[in-house]
Amino acid sequence: MRHLLILLILVLLGCNRAPSTNPAATEQLTENPQDDHSYANLKQINTTHLHLDLEVDFAAQTIYGTARHRMRNNGADTAIFDIKGLLIQKVTLGPKNKERETDFTIGPMDKDSIFGQALLVNVDSTTQYVNIYYQTTEASAALDWLDTTLTSSKTKPFLYTQGQAILTRTWIPIQDSPSNRLTYSADVKVPSDLLALMSAKNPTQLQKNGLYHFEMPRAIPSYLIALAVGDIAFKDLGHNCGVYAEKELVDNCANEFEDLPEMMRVAEALYGPYKWGRYDVLVLPYSFPFGGMENPMLTFANPTLLTGDKSLVSVLAHELAHSWSGNLVTNHSWSDLWLNEGTTVYFEERIMEALKGKEVADILAQVEFRELEQTIAEMRQDSSYEDSKLHLNLVNRDPDIAMSDVAYVKGAFFFRTLEQMVGRKKLDAFLKQYFSHFAFQTISADEFIDYLESELLAKSGKDFNYRDWIFQPGLPSNCVRIAAPRIEKIESQAQLFNQGKNPFKAKVSYKWVRKNGKRKRIKTLVQTKYQDLLIQEWQLFIGALSNPPAYRLQELDKQFAFSESGNSEILCNWFVLAAKSDYAFQIEPKITAFLGKVGRRKYVLPIYEALASSPKGLQLAKRIFHQSKSNYHSVTRRSVWKMLQKQG
Ligand code: BES
Ligand code: ZN
Repeated sequence: MRHLLILLILVLLGCNRAPSTNPAATEQLTENPQDDHSYANLKQINTTHLHLDLEVDFAAQTIYGTARHRMRNNGADTAIFDIKGLLIQKVTLGPKNKERETDFTIGPMDKDSIFGQALLVNVDSTTQYVNIYYQTTEASAALDWLDTTLTSSKTKPFLYTQGQAILTRTWIPIQDSPSNRLTYSADVKVPSDLLALMSAKNPTQLQKNGLYHFEMPRAIPSYLIALAVGDIAFKDLGHNCGVYAEKELVDNCANEFEDLPEMMRVAEALYGPYKWGRYDVLVLPYSFPFGGMENPMLTFANPTLLTGDKSLVSVLAHELAHSWSGNLVTNHSWSDLWLNEGTTVYFEERIMEALKGKEVADILAQVEFRELEQTIAEMRQDSSYEDSKLHLNLVNRDPDIAMSDVAYVKGAFFFRTLEQMVGRKKLDAFLKQYFSHFAFQTISADEFIDYLESELLAKSGKDFNYRDWIFQPGLPSNCVRIAAPRIEKIESQAQLFNQGKNPFKAKVSYKWVRKNGKRKRIKTLVQTKYQDLLIQEWQLFIGALSNPPAYRLQELDKQFAFSESGNSEILCNWFVLAAKSDYAFQIEPKITAFLGKVGRRKYVLPIYEALASSPKGLQLAKRIFHQSKSNYHSVTRRSVWKMLQKQG
């Protein structure tokens, strides 16, 4: 209700100058041929450079801003921007200090409140500069304002933004389409004891006056504009890589991420030079809704990656890979998120293979493949099978839908299968050439297909059923499978467990030793310990269990202490399994503590979902959500809330 009120105020404020009679004012988003998820009239007029003047006010949890758009104008009389949850104060035309106010109108909110509102600004055919004076509101969904209790220091607050897919419009009035690229600069004022960072060239030192200037000199899509403000320290890792984190965490981060320079060397050797200057990672507070976000020059990362044993660094390989796939070559629309994510997962797996060897990399990939199989099976069941296509129909739908194992893992297996067919050497040469040919541009599925046809398939004289892969649901029958002895072993151990046995029972083994010149046979007990296997082997094991009853989960927990694991992947898989039996109630404090602390949606949502599958569990889920929701970013909060709503 409070949100409704704010929106009402926004609409009213928007009309405080003479409303425009421009017919575009009534234009429906669904009629925009340029982007299913943006109101912007990019063909007529589009931003090429954005300068932001921002003041970050923690007390009011508000950013006061001016968005200064330099525009390429094809003779438009209206410039259309996207906004959602913003208060627009005034709009002016012209360069700074030579500005004159102009009329603007704010269109209605779309009926599902996904896309927000069009901001229509009256311009003339020669207008080059449009300046929008605004402030954010509580409905600015990109922003996560953390009060001191939710940070490591417990004494300083924190703010970060999450733009992808269409949340940049909730903190900047902008043409919020991945098809438009712009450079940006910013002058940001923050409290003098906090450091500000952006997806741009960054400071490493606190500025006493709290003023920071940023430049992103390479053209990027709007979803990659990002800001973070907090009590942040920096540590250099060498080779143009470094880590930022809250002071308490920065040493841990430097240890956990020490392979970054090596990843960078591997990535460049694979697909060409890194084009963005430095590569730094910022570790955010626990509420961050993703494992990582590839904001250029400054990947945002989840603190759950800090496991102490580097077991989750593939997330960094993934975000680094986006510096090519996604940030250099960007999906033209969210319908082709697979062109960003599938390519990136394939690239990530190649980096991990170079670092850890093929066997380990294959185990990591198998975990994802099993998840994909399950996702596709579920889609079949709840009649969303169409969404298992790589290219999605997202008209009138939240682009968030595209973020599933399909774009990521089916996308990656598209490239694995292609690799098997044409050979690694040819695929690598193709991808390298693809990243350089389309650098700083966007790409649609059709353009990708044309390029694939002419530059890879025709040249190698091969036929590839890419149409099935891209436009048909499910997994094509030629999809490559991963096979490795260690995968077979752990998956068959899961089957033994499913048959009521304990595959990890201590085994007696005999060993010959030499003592006082005599050979002697000694008996030892061999028992698998938690530390003996990779995290990802345990994930394969837990993932292959078919809903064991509580007492059997308890047995396993006694042996391996999964509930106590310091690894959030294990905790998530384990809690999901527990929630499908009564075991969840035995370890309720552990589940409650995890959901109260961690906000990564990939973990949080499946646990709530599994809990909600029984009436008693649903009650518990609601109780935990009620307690924890203020610790989540809106992305996670909204997804869990929607799911719980559906369960009644
Ligand atoms: N770019 C994505 C996150 C994203 C995708 C946000 C679509 C909003 C819409 C990021 O690179 C990502 O894929 N993160 C994954 C990492 C994993 C696949 C290694 C995550 O957070 O789980
Ligand atoms: Zn990604």
